[in-house]
Amino acid sequence: MSTTTWPTQQDLNDLQGDVILGLPKRTEDFIFFNIQDANAFKTDLKQLIPAITTTAQIKKLRDDISEHKRCGRPGLIKTVGINIAFSNLGLKKLGITDELDDPAFDAGQLASAQALGDQGFVDSSNKFDPNWLPEFKSETDGVVLIAGDSRTSVVEGAHKVENIFGASIRKVLVVKGQVRPGPEKGHEHFGFLDGISSPAIETLTKPLPGQIVVPPGVLICGTEGDVDSAGNAVTRPAWAKNGSFLVYRHFNQLVPEFNKFLEDNPLEFPNIPREQGSELLGARLFGRWKSGAPVYLTPTHDNPKLAADKQHNNDFDYSEDPLDQTRCPFAAHIRKANPRADLKDFGATALTQHMLVRQSIAFGAELAADEIESHTTRLDRGLAFVCYQSNLSNGFEFVQKSWVNATNFPPKTINGVAYNSGFDPIIGQNSGAPRQTDGMNPLNANAETTLPIDFIVSKGGQYYFTPSISALNTKFT
Ligand code: HEM
Repeated sequence: MSTTTWPTQQDLNDLQGDVILGLPKRTEDFIFFNIQDANAFKTDLKQLIPAITTTAQIKKLRDDISEHKRCGRPGLIKTVGINIAFSNLGLKKLGITDELDDPAFDAGQLASAQALGDQGFVDSSNKFDPNWLPEFKSETDGVVLIAGDSRTSVVEGAHKVENIFGASIRKVLVVKGQVRPGPEKGHEHFGFLDGISSPAIETLTKPLPGQIVVPPGVLICGTEGDVDSAGNAVTRPAWAKNGSFLVYRHFNQLVPEFNKFLEDNPLEFPNIPREQGSELLGARLFGRWKSGAPVYLTPTHDNPKLAADKQHNNDFDYSEDPLDQTRCPFAAHIRKANPRADLKDFGATALTQHMLVRQSIAFGAELAADEIESHTTRLDRGLAFVCYQSNLSNGFEFVQKSWVNATNFPPKTINGVAYNSGFDPIIGQNSGAPRQTDGMNPLNANAETTLPIDFIVSKGGQYYFTPSISALNTKFT
């Protein structure tokens, strides 16, 4: 099933557009649904397929957007992108019983909640009940993603989808993603620029300096490099080719509480004002300044010019001083989630096999004055986290369990002793218990930082499969 010539034009027409290149978006609706009537759904899906946005269309659209910007034309090009994905329950409802060879997908995200470190409680029958939104606990059959340049465009797309499906689906939950306003565009709710670093498939896009190059099969099923966690080729049905597993995670962010934590715990240096110490702590927790400039390249002060320079803002791999945290803590979010050269002695695929493509968007209100004043979250806000990979046990599940939650990761031996760098302070999870992290203070790497609460709280999600257009045509209708 593997091919070395991916992608042909046919593949680009086959792969849904959000998977690698991403649906362009200022706003995005996620319509989580249950299938009410499988036969009616199949008939309706036939009508939706021509409206599903392909990678070939996104490639062209992204070129048009670049040209639009280059020419200094006003406004945004109108876009409405639509994608669809199904949970294992959804596949079963449609009578698709082929084994996709991904146990985490088969079991669903709810079954993983405890092992991922989500908050919840164990009931009297020893069953874990996570503190998730009820809609994710009841489990959904699928999700439609509708992304566009404006709310008007997305509403238009949503009407189209709803008119097509009518009563064959029941909307379980609609999450409304929204890129933040003004200068916060592209920044997640804590204020840090998101969406900078992503793995590259060389045959699709020219890698930027520092980008991790992966074979297509790390991200797309049935293509070269699609292997299981032991590195063996997986046996998937032929229709799985050009599909990808979509992870949705609904994260609430406690922004006033996070800001208060930074305010109360500035890194202390002679001649550095308190606010700058707080700013530095924030940057070291993430591994990037709010502008997106990596602390590894600019450890003491932000550098927005570097942040905006795509030829340099991702061009580092921690290899110059692998046992020193002065420039970047081992536990910083971006280092835990992509340790780059920290894994260079562990084999060629130790890093690349676990890469994933993120296509998230912020949701919820901007901070209200009373929240800032009281340092307490009153309104829901956070990240509608989306990532794609060909194998959940290699991708999201592995990164969350074995990297960001693993206190002994990345593997470092200092003076003959295995070093414990602690949790990823941003997304590492300890079932809600306080977390320790090391290396935040550049002058004293062994000083431990205690994070008293989780500033990011998982409210659930699901694992979906985003089928190719040809699979939708032949298998789903
Ligand atoms: C609310 C939750 C999250 C927030 C606010 C957040 C924020 C960020 C920010 C600001 C960056 C730096 C910009 C960039 O390189 O794109 C980043 C990078 C990254 N994040 Fe997250 N993230 C979140 C959840 C996650 C989760 C759940 C994962 C995976 C388990 C993850 C994996 C990554 C990866 C792989 C990178 C790129 C690292 C690199 O290549 O240098 N993030 N994130």
